[in-house]
Amino acid sequence: MGIELSKIVQGIEPSATLAMSAKAGELRAQGQTVYNLSVGEPDFNTPRHICEAAFKAIEAGKTRYTPASGIPELKKAVVEEYKNRCGLEYAAAQCVVSNGAKHALHNSFFCTLNPGDEVIIPAPYWVSYAELVKLSGAVPVILQTDESNNFKLTAEQFRAAITPKTRMLLLCSPSNPTGNIYSGQELGELADIVLENNLFVVADEIYDRLVYGDNKFVSFPTLRPGLQDRTIVINGVSKTYAMTGWRIGWALAPENIAKKMSSLQSQETSNPCSVSQYAALEAITGDQSCVSLMVSEFAKRRDYVAGRIAEIPGLSCAEMGGAFYAFINVKKHLGRKLGGVTVNNSKEFCLALLDQKKVATVMGSAFGTEGYIRASFANSIENLQEAFDRIAEFLA
Ligand SMILES: Cc1ncc(COP(=O)(O)O)c(C=O)c1O
Repeated sequence: MGIELSKIVQGIEPSATLAMSAKAGELRAQGQTVYNLSVGEPDFNTPRHICEAAFKAIEAGKTRYTPASGIPELKKAVVEEYKNRCGLEYAAAQCVVSNGAKHALHNSFFCTLNPGDEVIIPAPYWVSYAELVKLSGAVPVILQTDESNNFKLTAEQFRAAITPKTRMLLLCSPSNPTGNIYSGQELGELADIVLENNLFVVADEIYDRLVYGDNKFVSFPTLRPGLQDRTIVINGVSKTYAMTGWRIGWALAPENIAKKMSSLQSQETSNPCSVSQYAALEAITGDQSCVSLMVSEFAKRRDYVAGRIAEIPGLSCAEMGGAFYAFINVKKHLGRKLGGVTVNNSKEFCLALLDQKKVATVMGSAFGTEGYIRASFANSIENLQEAFDRIAEFLA
């Protein structure tokens, strides 16, 4: 008999977004042209001045272990940047730099949740939330939101889902996978319920700078006095600075929690990559024009994609205020025969689209909401044009 898997990992699913990307990669390796709208990363290269800071760090021998929770300069820069942009003060000791925001989320759940605790997650949600919560032994409680309300959790829904076991609300605004952004008023209503019920919040703000048109990002703990002590803010450089491979993210947390996250990290992974931390420091403190350039390019692509979706019969999409995803309603096409294959759900839809038209997207079911597919517009307009031409042909 082989080695038995632990009960905890038996329940863990692989990341569907990475699985779809891997499938697209296999087809590419066979020499096929694939339009990959499945990945959640900017298609831009990391800006040159950030790479140069990394070269300099290597040349200066900054290639050794660093403090587990990150180099002091980076932690200071993170809290200063947050203060300048959002107005709240954190001590550097409240910042823990990790191997990406995903790791910061894992640390946050692991340090605050006990087996059986309930975590409220509005669906559709980013694929890793439920799995990371389960790793801590806690229970994800998924609340379906509605497209007609732009996929936002309402105060009534939130209140009705609270039980004696509820500990945490998980929020992501701007959202992956829908691109929606909660207004200050909407977040304030949720914040009142959090405070009344002594809950706490993990606010994933990784897309905070990728916001389009008149939409405004509001950071959750800024909304009510006392909320800062009940919130862990998650952020990082992956999306804002096209630095997904460098693996730098962070948490801003109450000091006792930050201290434990640092201890946990010191035992599990030691410090995040030293060279990447110097690159992240340059990203935050250096020239920010690269961010505006990327945002204006994403905004053009968002408008293009919204236009194409509106044109294709039977597709629709709620407003994308931020991030770089379209969460497309394909319900009118489910049950149809597409290219000889009957497509009954979002997974079958995505597999048939990839197989027949070589366009990779991700099924809504992976985000907890059936009847939709997620298409990333972190792709050139030319690629998006070809991909949407193919989607239109697939559905014609
Ligand atoms: C909502 C959300 N949070 C966190 C992450 C993880 O980011 P990182 O690359 O910093 O681990 C992602 C990446 O896709 C994301 O979409």
